[in-house]
Amino acid sequence: MKLKNKVAIVTGGNSGIGFGIAEALMNEGAVGAITGRNQATLDSSGKELGSGFISIKADVTNLEELENIFSKTADKFGKIDILVVNAGGIVDGVPMPGIDEVTEESYDRYMNLNLKSAYFTVKKALPHLNDGASIILIGSSAAHRAAPGMTIYAAAKAAVISLAKGLSLDLLSRKIRVNALSPGSIDTPVFGKIVPEDKVDFVKHLWIDITPVGRQGTPSDIGKAAVFLASDDSAFIVGTEILSDGGLTNISLMK
Ligand SMILES: NC(=O)c1ccc[n+]([C@@H]2O[C@H](COP(=O)([O-])OP(=O)(O)OC[C@H]3O[C@@H](n4cnc5c(N)ncnc54)[C@H](OP(=O)(O)O)[C@@H]3O)[C@@H](O)[C@H]2O)c1
Repeated sequence: MKLKNKVAIVTGGNSGIGFGIAEALMNEGAVGAITGRNQATLDSSGKELGSGFISIKADVTNLEELENIFSKTADKFGKIDILVVNAGGIVDGVPMPGIDEVTEESYDRYMNLNLKSAYFTVKKALPHLNDGASIILIGSSAAHRAAPGMTIYAAAKAAVISLAKGLSLDLLSRKIRVNALSPGSIDTPVFGKIVPEDKVDFVKHLWIDITPVGRQGTPSDIGKAAVFLASDDSAFIVGTEILSDGGLTNISLMK
């Protein structure tokens, strides 16, 4: 077990990629907390992770609720070794707006969820982190390759990838490593938030068609990469990005 008794927090660990990461960390011996806003999925995911994990209800765009995540986890488990900043993606009620639909309000909400919350999740965590901790920021291949409706989301994720560099520098004296882990198209509930249920398979196949390995990734694919970044196996990897995208970003299929 690579992470025996390490204390981890995964924001958005009640769904999709976050749950896959929490499961992978748990399988390597970690304990800790998952967070989200949906009580039903917090309960069901918490149950699947077992007694080593607690579930904390918190909106990551609310700074007081963010603080609560860290104090509750530290009260229960002590200082934190692994922080996975994963919560993000689609803003409720505003699925991937194109430029004609974007308003100042929807712009701010995308930036708040996908960039500001990532920065403040790290800032609020700092008093509760062990020196030598590993912070993993979930980026996206969208930061590198434009796709319809993703312009603002992608810009926020590009900034998150940049945060991995700046925050690594800011936290060097504490030996805290910050890296970005950028998924390509991963099979999670997010697709049901973007298009109606009867269009989900169609959209997933659009992504499969442009993904060189010929499939979507799974939350477990991302979980394995997160275990690597959380563990000492990646001790010399600081302030960079790992793409786990089946070749989507760097390889073009000439179909
Ligand atoms: N799936 C992909 O293809 C893909 C590709 C690249 C990057 N990503 C990134 O991976 C991360 C996870 O996405 P996913 O695909 O697993 O989507 P998902 O299943 O929709 O999960 C999103 C998670 O974020 C949480 N969340 C959203 N808004 C929140 C808020 N205001 N406060 C607290 N938690 C919030 C959700 O929990 P609640 O709803 O309970 O709040 C949920 O746990 C996101 O950062 C996303 O941008 C996904």
